[in-house]
Amino acid sequence: MTEENRFIDRYRTGHTPWVHSNPDFNLLETVTQRPITPCKVFEPGCGLGVESVWLAEQGFEVTAMDVSELALEKAKASAGALASKINWLSMDITRDRLPKEAFGFIFDRGFFHTFDTSGERSLVAEKLASSLEENGLWLSLMGNGDGVPVRTGPPLRSASDIVLAVDPFFEILSLEVSVFGNEEANPHKIWRCLMKKRKL
Ligand SMILES: C[S@@+](CC[C@H](N)C(=O)[O-])C[C@H]1O[C@@H](n2cnc3c(N)ncnc32)[C@H](O)[C@@H]1O
Repeated sequence: MTEENRFIDRYRTGHTPWVHSNPDFNLLETVTQRPITPCKVFEPGCGLGVESVWLAEQGFEVTAMDVSELALEKAKASAGALASKINWLSMDITRDRLPKEAFGFIFDRGFFHTFDTSGERSLVAEKLASSLEENGLWLSLMGNGDGVPVRTGPPLRSASDIVLAVDPFFEILSLEVSVFGNEEANPHKIWRCLMKKRKL
């Protein structure tokens, strides 16, 4: 089974430990502190769409994408009145073409870190860069491989995994240690990486 089909299956069986109720504080802090003003935003691997809905509430023009149609159906249902304001896309980033739009901002939470090989991570970083406008920003939240090894939990990446994949296409503005914003007592340690598209 491919990794993408595994994700589709996990939504069917309910094995989705990343599901959370409230928008992740790492996104809220970055958007409000930098600040990132409302623009066209893309959320690949949006899952149940909690952050896409928050971005739409802030006035961003949101395109939310996932390989799981079931996840998108659930996301639309919980978005309520905002569902019709969000552009929902079902696609596999490794196979399909991204929308032609030029986004000002990309946000992903636990999506980029799911790609296990450096080749896949480079491909995804290149595709994301190509869908950003000049000086566009990408905020990625990724499992952090430093510290106590865990047997279950998110994929864990090293700083060098990230730099190797993104550096040809993005200038890294900050790479900080944080934790996932969720309802858990001991949330997993993450990398919070803010990047700007390079002029190529
Ligand atoms: C760890 S989950 C995170 C979901 C959501 N961002 C969250 O934080 O709740 C990763 C998401 O990426 C999606 N995904 C994985 N591989 C994908 C691919 N190749 N193309 C599009 N979506 C993919 C999965 O279906 C899943 O919803």
